[in-house]
Amino acid sequence: MASSALICETEPWKDLKVHVDDIKKTHLRELMCDTKRCQSMMVEFDGILLDYSRQCATLDTLNKLKNLAEAAHLKEKINRMFNGERINSTENRSVLHVALRAPRDSVINSDGKNVVPDVWQVLDKIKDFSERVRSGAWVGATGKALKDVIAIGIGGSFLGPLFVHTALQTDNEAAEFAKGRQLRFLANVDPIDVARNIAGLNPETTLVVVVSKTFTTAETMLNARTLREWISAALGPQAVAKHMVAVSTNLTLVEKFGIDPNNAFAFWDWVGGRYSVCSAVGVLPLSLQYGFAVVEKFLRGASSIDQHFHSAPFEKNLPVLLGLLSVWNVSFLGYPARAILPYSQALEKFAPHIQQVSMESNGKGVSIDGVPLPYETGEIDFGEPGTNGQHSFYQLIHQGRVIPCDFIGVVKSQQPVYLKGELVSNHDELMSNFFAQPDALAYGKTPEQLLKENIPEHLITHKTFSGNRPSLSILLPSLNAYNVGQLLAIYEHRVAVEGFVWGINSFDQWGVELGKSLATQVRKQLHASRKKGEAVEGFNFSTTTVLKRYLEASAD
Ligand code: F6P
Repeated sequence: MASSALICETEPWKDLKVHVDDIKKTHLRELMCDTKRCQSMMVEFDGILLDYSRQCATLDTLNKLKNLAEAAHLKEKINRMFNGERINSTENRSVLHVALRAPRDSVINSDGKNVVPDVWQVLDKIKDFSERVRSGAWVGATGKALKDVIAIGIGGSFLGPLFVHTALQTDNEAAEFAKGRQLRFLANVDPIDVARNIAGLNPETTLVVVVSKTFTTAETMLNARTLREWISAALGPQAVAKHMVAVSTNLTLVEKFGIDPNNAFAFWDWVGGRYSVCSAVGVLPLSLQYGFAVVEKFLRGASSIDQHFHSAPFEKNLPVLLGLLSVWNVSFLGYPARAILPYSQALEKFAPHIQQVSMESNGKGVSIDGVPLPYETGEIDFGEPGTNGQHSFYQLIHQGRVIPCDFIGVVKSQQPVYLKGELVSNHDELMSNFFAQPDALAYGKTPEQLLKENIPEHLITHKTFSGNRPSLSILLPSLNAYNVGQLLAIYEHRVAVEGFVWGINSFDQWGVELGKSLATQVRKQLHASRKKGEAVEGFNFSTTTVLKRYLEASAD
């Protein structure tokens, strides 16, 4: 197969490399004085304000990044994705998570077939099923309503739904529909996670949703067997039909496992695991908890961003701007990490979800044509709700390494509190930090300023902040289901933009396979040693030694 030129060989890439020196000469303190520049670096769409004026970039940088986008054929690649072309070439699949939230009357083709009716058929089925469970029309084996749900799944079959659930939990509108119900997530194969999930639950009132795209993932399948046993032991094997349902692309394996295919909710191989929260993977558990109407609102929010991403010019396009700035930070300024800092406790599971979306997508070493890359791709994503992070790792971001930060704030709190006598409301207090931190990072504090404050000489260097540390701020109007959907889609598309520019396949994940197959070898050895007393062999010295220690020390 003819391979296309690497992006680093193009003129716009080389031009940006040269441009780095200009930018490094200019401190953000100076850049922030240019009001016209700052104004141009604020973009608004559908109630969301993006302020990227604290990026180490000028308007010239933006033009150069636009040239890079052109050289990378970004527009064509976005169109190819929306047109259902098989852009995930190593798995020969389309990438159509946008179809999962497309309005009922839209047309999105994969292999010449409009997939939107299939999507809505499953959504209608979820609506019907979740309403029956919630109303008590569908009951458990002993006739009791199923008010508790355990969703078993890992990776993309877990992190997205957990993020959305955590965000909606404290949204009054959503929470109103969740009264008397519980949704838990069982991901880790660690028996501790099983114990925590079933603690306090009664199998008679519990519905288990097994979520796995492949229905082969070792952790999920073992957890599914464990909870099948938990139900059978309490209620008899026939109870499984009433207490276990599944979400998968592999309905044959679902049936083989013992779940009635009528109680299975399908999705398709054109949905990547980490992009599947808008499929039945997220929609089923979330509809059981909050009702379908709330989840539909979430899908509408994501869809609004999809349309924006597909049609807005690059200079006003939120995911495109974010993606290009990430490429700038990683590939040109040389900053390998990114902190995701929501000033909202409800978004505490956002960073863990984006870690998978971003790092599993863009942590690649070869181009989409298989050519080893002479440049790094992907960034190290991490994050915590902002104020908690401030008392933890922000020290390093302020005075140690340079880590571009995403500050995410919300105008209206889900749970406003105003204590009498306090200066500002609790939410204003939280947001004071959201506004202060980006300026602290950008401006820093000079020795001259410290001297004016009469700081003792020996502390000057300790108390100096170099500043010039990039960040961007995203201000959401509120954090209802719609806004949560918007936020999700912005980040999903940002990751795609980065991958398109780097010229990699952001939609496969071969890097997870090697560890999985080595674990299979270890699992076989553990079984053979424990059941048949077979000696440990076939491993290197270190693994053999520690494995033997483990076997000996854990023998009954
Ligand atoms: O970790 C690898 C991975 O394949 C992820 O991409 C995926 O989200 C996860 O495992 C779970 O896979 P499945 O939904 O097939 O159980």
